[in-house]
Amino acid sequence: MAHPDAGPHHLAIVMDGNGRWASKRFLPRLAGHKQGVDTLKRIVRACAQRHIAVLTVFAFSSENWNRPQEEVSGLMDLLAGALAREVSQLKQDGVRLRFVGDRSGLSERVRVGLSRAELDTADNDVLTLNVCFNYGGRWEIAQAAAQLAARGEPITETSLSQAMALGAGPDPDLLIRTGGEFRLSNFLLWQSAYTELYFSPAFWPDFDEQALDQAIAEYHARERRFGKTSAQVTHASVSPV
Ligand code: IPE
Ligand code: IPE
Ligand code: MG
Repeated sequence: MAHPDAGPHHLAIVMDGNGRWASKRFLPRLAGHKQGVDTLKRIVRACAQRHIAVLTVFAFSSENWNRPQEEVSGLMDLLAGALAREVSQLKQDGVRLRFVGDRSGLSERVRVGLSRAELDTADNDVLTLNVCFNYGGRWEIAQAAAQLAARGEPITETSLSQAMALGAGPDPDLLIRTGGEFRLSNFLLWQSAYTELYFSPAFWPDFDEQALDQAIAEYHARERRFGKTSAQVTHASVSPV
């Protein structure tokens, strides 16, 4: 395992492929989502072991309302059930849970569950788990701009960053999308400006510690230049001026 300073410090994941995982087994799509919750539990533990400070996952997009009603309500039940079952363990493991997204579109039952889970785990500091639920990158940017406009504040890169629903922490270093698709699907549009992207063919329920380590190893092999030349970056790491 690489030295924890090597990062990634903030990992983002588009957990995609649950439906296809289930269809391949002639199971209902919801069985894939259920299995996906188990995968998330494992990956959260693996991230904590690897000293990743922040994990941001995409669980339900603004566009996922367009799915069949049965799947949407199944996903809402799954979230409510997972909160009821898992929060005490997450609390023990030092995980701080945060939900990012438009809560006004969610039922009272789900909203109460989210707030309670956040309050229960607010003092934890091993790993912050941001669950993006009813989230869209465009929604996030628009709501940040609307907040600033309502307060009559200037719109700058810094003020917008601070008004993002995700919060003003460091941007993701690495973004993994499972399920074999090569797109962001409206995830973290603002924060992923300089994020390293990694696409895994594995369906999310099959994604495991080994696959995670493979993604992290590839991240370590990348050269993050942030607009500079390779020579500048290599030189800077030898003698920071
Ligand atoms: C991702 O898996 C989970 C959600 C979007 C809620 P999908 O349900 O999109 O799985 P596929 O892409 O259909 O296989
Ligand atoms: C993105 O996956 C959203 C989540 C993983 C929650 P989708 O399966 O909804 O994305 P598209 O529709 O294939 O772009
Ligand atoms: Mg999908």
